[in-house]
Amino acid sequence: MVASDSRARRVLLLLSPATYRAAAFLEAARKLGLEVVQGMDLPDALASQWNVPLGLDFGNPDAAVERIVEYATRTPVDAVLSVDDSATILAARASSALGLPHNSPDSAVAARDKGVMRDLLSAGGAPVPHYDRFFLSEDPAVVSGRVAYPCVLKPLRLSGSRGVIRADSAAEFVAAWKRVRRLLVSEGNQPDTSHVLVEEFIPGFEVALEGILTDGKLRVLALFDKPDPLAGPFFEETIYVTPSRLPLEVQDAVARCTAEAARALGLWTGPVHAELRVNDRGPWIVEIAGRSIGGLCSMILQFGTGMCLEELILRHAVGMEIEDYSREARAAGVMMIPIPGAGMLAAVHGVEEAKHVPGVEDVQITARLHQPLVPLPEGASYLGFIFARGDDPMTVEESLREAHRCLSFEVRPHIQLLAAR
Ligand SMILES: Nc1ncnc2c1ncn2[C@@H]1O[C@H](COP(=O)(O)OP(=O)(O)O)[C@@H](O)[C@H]1O
Ligand SMILES: [Mg+2]
Repeated sequence: MVASDSRARRVLLLLSPATYRAAAFLEAARKLGLEVVQGMDLPDALASQWNVPLGLDFGNPDAAVERIVEYATRTPVDAVLSVDDSATILAARASSALGLPHNSPDSAVAARDKGVMRDLLSAGGAPVPHYDRFFLSEDPAVVSGRVAYPCVLKPLRLSGSRGVIRADSAAEFVAAWKRVRRLLVSEGNQPDTSHVLVEEFIPGFEVALEGILTDGKLRVLALFDKPDPLAGPFFEETIYVTPSRLPLEVQDAVARCTAEAARALGLWTGPVHAELRVNDRGPWIVEIAGRSIGGLCSMILQFGTGMCLEELILRHAVGMEIEDYSREARAAGVMMIPIPGAGMLAAVHGVEEAKHVPGVEDVQITARLHQPLVPLPEGASYLGFIFARGDDPMTVEESLREAHRCLSFEVRPHIQLLAAR
């Protein structure tokens, strides 16, 4: 279905109410003159209250696909796009039902479910750490004797490092297991039908690759180094800086590994965000998702003559021309501000000072005052972001660290959190 000349191209954007990604996509669509229909994970009553044209239940994909098809029959759309992880499978299924180009539903599942991903990567011959899945209802004391250490426990379908915990011994494994189980049960999962994935810990330096697939071919848009060590037991992401300072041949190996992973999963079109670890045995895929970078991190990416990542993705989705995919020449970086502890965020100091650090372009505190801060491995939201640009990656990294040193956070103990201990 291609837009006739008489109407603007229309994109159905699938959004969850809590997503960080909405504003950037909506602004890019506005700039491009695209008509946007927001399909939001909301019950009907709230959708009409919020003026959202299409309320969808992401938790009930069969019904949501039906709803989208019914809507699009009356109001044709040229692309269905999920702005983040929450609806990539739904977007693939709806696109398939509507005959729109997209990743296949199976590949969207593979890019979302870490167990299926490991199975397909392994079948495709990619380097994969030893891994196994266990039902949450199993006895962790028994399972702890069946895995090798150090290992990483992780839920199959969460993101942002939620529930990802390293264990170096059987005792740590049992404690980690209980914590992951509590988290998954609190998210509505049943222990006897839900799995936890246990993988060998991959040592090494971590990078993130932002790319876009066109007819199965990967174009690297940006390769980020993650200069802070991610050694566990929890894996809070902090600094991302591009371009990578890794040797060019290693960067090429990372790109090849990501392209192979996309192929193994059957990903064919649209954005990919991959995380890899690099060690003396080469690059290893930690995960590859069929979506763009999360949080507000994309703010520091610019392509061609001032095109943001979301504009590039939208152009790609509706078949508009993209003259130049190359990222600007300057180095750029973002810090996802670490959460200093659990409690109520009572005050944030030093934001203006941080904004004035040379190279820093913006500091955004996204956590709300007087709301609980929940650190990993349970927490699902960011404290905020620092954005910087500079002549080279080292300078950018220093600007981010300097700005972070200007910030201080007052976090008051949260009575409920204390009581839950
Ligand atoms: N097998 C592993 N070995 C070493 N580190 C890992 C492994 N799996 C995950 N991690 C760490 O945990 C982080 C989050 O895991 P990931 O699989 O990317 O889940 P999420 O979808 O929550 O981001 C990774 O970025 C990495 O730092
Ligand atoms: Mg990840």
